[in-house]
Amino acid sequence: MMRGRGLVNRLAMLAGALGVAALAGAPVRAEDGYALWLRHAPLEGEALARLDGFAGSVSIDLPDNPTAALAANELRLGVDALLGDGAIGFAEPSMAAFQFDCDDPAIATDGAFRVTSDVSRMRIAAGAPIGCLYASHAILRALEQGADPATLALDEAPVMPLRMLNHWDNPDGHVERGYAGRSIFDWWHLPERLDQRMIDYARANASVGINGVVVNNVNARAFMLEARYIAKLKRLADAWRPYGIRVYLSARFSAPRDIGGLATADPLDPAVAAWWQAKADEIYAAIPDFGGFLVKANSEGQPGPQDYGRSHADGANMLAAALGDRGTVIWRAFVYKAQDSTDRTMQAYAEFVPLDGQFADNVIVQVKNGPLDFQPREPFHPLFGAMPETRLMFEGQITKEYLGFASHLAFLGPLWKDVLDADTGRGGTVAQIVAPAGMAGVANAGSDRNWTGSDFDQANWYAFGRLAWNPALPAEAIAREWAAQTFTRDPQALDTITAMMLGSREAVVRYMTPLGLAHVMDTGHHYGPGPWVCDLARPDWNPCYYHRADSEGIGFDRTARGSGALAQYAPQVAARWADLATIDPRYLLWFHRVGWNQAMPSGRTLWAEMVHEYDAGVAAVDAMARDWQALAPHIDAQRHRAVAENLAIQQAEARWWRDASLAYWQSLHGLALPAGATPIPESLADYQRRTFPEAPGQ
Ligand code: GCU
Repeated sequence: MMRGRGLVNRLAMLAGALGVAALAGAPVRAEDGYALWLRHAPLEGEALARLDGFAGSVSIDLPDNPTAALAANELRLGVDALLGDGAIGFAEPSMAAFQFDCDDPAIATDGAFRVTSDVSRMRIAAGAPIGCLYASHAILRALEQGADPATLALDEAPVMPLRMLNHWDNPDGHVERGYAGRSIFDWWHLPERLDQRMIDYARANASVGINGVVVNNVNARAFMLEARYIAKLKRLADAWRPYGIRVYLSARFSAPRDIGGLATADPLDPAVAAWWQAKADEIYAAIPDFGGFLVKANSEGQPGPQDYGRSHADGANMLAAALGDRGTVIWRAFVYKAQDSTDRTMQAYAEFVPLDGQFADNVIVQVKNGPLDFQPREPFHPLFGAMPETRLMFEGQITKEYLGFASHLAFLGPLWKDVLDADTGRGGTVAQIVAPAGMAGVANAGSDRNWTGSDFDQANWYAFGRLAWNPALPAEAIAREWAAQTFTRDPQALDTITAMMLGSREAVVRYMTPLGLAHVMDTGHHYGPGPWVCDLARPDWNPCYYHRADSEGIGFDRTARGSGALAQYAPQVAARWADLATIDPRYLLWFHRVGWNQAMPSGRTLWAEMVHEYDAGVAAVDAMARDWQALAPHIDAQRHRAVAENLAIQQAEARWWRDASLAYWQSLHGLALPAGATPIPESLADYQRRTFPEAPGQ
């Protein structure tokens, strides 16, 4: 084993020689979060001794393949960093401790890999080089958690073919619903200048199996389809290809009119179809593995086929024909209309179910996790399971538009798991329904040094990738492995951090939207409480539309007596939620209207129960802040302070949510707070006067 030279020098040399980012080896750097979960902090104790005794050198059988070379180099850099001052090299195959075979015909699935080990050798087999790269990251993940290299055995294949991020980034650098600074994409300087961040980003994505990136906002600008942007996109595609990442574009449906000089964008007009065909050919000439188009059509003012009396299927199929077998059209089901007076949460189902079976084979319909809009809690979307002849994809929001932006700690693993594990009653769980297509997550990465605006929000990016790889992974396992790689391997500290993460989303639900409430955030920016907003032009943009509170009670009756939304679910699912007396209280006010004085299973009245929930949410945040303080000895000072300051913001804002919400509900019914409850410090008018036109992400 080579020892003695400085780690920094070696990493810099390797990075220079191999053109790979030296994110690893963070112990010698300031801990500013840039290294994400790829810090590879040196092992200690037995784990270090075991790896030290094992590590020798790396060999690969496909030295000319860039992805295989990355796989070998990733493992080498990673093991090197874990050893602290060790250095492993590339070697003759017969000498190597780590041997890659990235062309094993026995492993068919793209991305799959198998790792077997004996006393002194680890064999890494994959059917394609990308499987080797995923294997390197999986091995490092295991070693970081103390696995013995002499006995390590892994056998993994991605459950879903498409594991994508959707960036809501605009070409001018502003990110819609972005809370981590500006866009990571420097469109202005592309294609001549490719920021190193683009490589580091691809590497981070590959480390969790993400294999597709939509680079621009679903509220798309047509000019991003012009030749000058295709050249920019090509530079990205070339840089990301070795990491197994295909690029996709959000396409504005009216582009043939906007930039193509046509008078119409009617999907059944031959000139329109020809325009898209030529555009697709132009893109594929530059980017042979271009993934395809993501389309938001006839939704929130975006153009679409309905502008010409055509259906979503007409629009999607026309684009699908232009792509042919080269790519995929991902058509979003997030639709609702100002003119439609039916319950907003029912409109996507009503529009899309009749189209089942009409979409071309290379069309996927992308469905948000719930029927409303990325709320802290929603039931699963009733479209899952209701379109058996259509490939459906899951869309989650990694950026936390409705969960306190980047300042509140809310680990989203449990939110996505609630939905993925839900039995639709129509042919499987949501995870099973979307498995033939995949998962898309609205990205939370931005230009902030720590990528995601807060250290803990990195966990949501990580968890999204891990769940798209394998939706059966428990949220707890994901939280623990992320925390071990990101913060510390101390077992007790890990217990504490994991528990904080697992309880964090529930805390947010309790202080923002308890008992099934939704969309009570202030208008536009969705920052802070605004349950009193009732006068916007569109009824379905008003919080009042969703909570329906008055002097008598609160909640949206979606049973047969009310909007009937419950009937969009399979009968056995609907039956679970239909009865006010037996419904899971977490969905109570989503499906039912309840009197303020009605008795809850706890014995409290609804009003007292709500106060109890808000208080429990506030208390949970206080507990997180205390637990984090106690972790100071285990966490580097810079990140410890950053998280502590966020938690202090969250403590104050949880109280704001509680107090402002209670003040408003109280103004409707006039009931006193239950005995012993903390008084509300300000008047309702004071809370209503707070405005934040400058809140980020709008
Ligand atoms: C939400 C969000 C919008 C976004 C939309 C979408 O409504 O607030 O900013 O454009 O979702 O998913 O298309």
